[in-house]
Amino acid sequence: MTDITHFINDLPATETGLGAVLSDVVAACREISRAIDRGALTGAMGSQGESNVQGEEQKKLDVISNDLFLEHVQRSGLVAGLVSEEMEEPFVPRGSSLSKDTGNRRYLVLFDPLDGSSNVDANITVGTIFSILHYQESQTEPIDPSYLQAGAKQICAGYAMYGSSTMLVLTVGRGVQGFTLNRDTGEFILTHPNMRIPPDTHEFAVNMSNYRFWESPMQHYIDDCLQGKEGRRGKDFNMRWIASMVAEIHRILIRGGIFMYPIDSKIRKQGGRLRLMYEANPMSFIVEQAGGMASTGRHRVMDIEPEALHQRIPVVMGSKNEVETVTTYYRR
Ligand code: F6P
Repeated sequence: MTDITHFINDLPATETGLGAVLSDVVAACREISRAIDRGALTGAMGSQGESNVQGEEQKKLDVISNDLFLEHVQRSGLVAGLVSEEMEEPFVPRGSSLSKDTGNRRYLVLFDPLDGSSNVDANITVGTIFSILHYQESQTEPIDPSYLQAGAKQICAGYAMYGSSTMLVLTVGRGVQGFTLNRDTGEFILTHPNMRIPPDTHEFAVNMSNYRFWESPMQHYIDDCLQGKEGRRGKDFNMRWIASMVAEIHRILIRGGIFMYPIDSKIRKQGGRLRLMYEANPMSFIVEQAGGMASTGRHRVMDIEPEALHQRIPVVMGSKNEVETVTTYYRR
């Protein structure tokens, strides 16, 4: 069976060095997977006792995963800078052209080291999300504006999912491939080639406890889903909420569905719940490459011109026809 090394060797020749960066990402995810597997045996569970840049409680495994990712993904010498959910400022590897040292560095990597980490102590699936952009050398510090590129400019995006098995799902703009970690050999094997999201669904994922805080289009959409066969949608819906975006999007890649984190009055000031650069954009790239759709409800996610590294936005993504239906509620 094909392993991820073959996939990496097959990358477009125009993307010199992307393979080396991806190999480092793969190594990082393998190590994070090991750290999570060992869990309580190494005392890695529980809270770090601090908050991250977003003001959220940091788990020990958030910090461990962040450190492992940084350690590995600067090895190729081709990454000019990294942005993480866990760090306020970008991380500039030593010898990087961003640290004024000339070099061969052509890529920027933005990542969420452990998405859904509030679940990790309960042994529920979590994941690492990453997005790779070109680094444009003309840009300069302090917060290099070259990080602030629309999602449509991503050249690679993916996630590792630490669940009943560890999987790596990624796209370089030529469809979506899923690899499963063979824990005996450490290899990621291509088990899910050309993943496609069915266009129709009767399964939605949303945190229903926020219903009363939502805008009316989202309330109306959910009202209609809940009416089932008797309502205007004419079919019954099922609901899932794992509170772990990686697990949610993976389920949608496997059997379809719609995942939503809409704006609500509690989070209006922040702009949304999910982070644009290292959650919404990479997941949107994957979803679109699998034939799905990713929107804020009003605009295509990947068209948004980012204004800040840790910017948040509302998200509606998954099965194409269902996401389109949601956008019609916003247009009404
Ligand atoms: O980082 C965002 C995240 O953990 C997602 O993975 C998940 O979908 C969401 O937050 C869970 O939100 P809530 O706590 O409202 O259920």
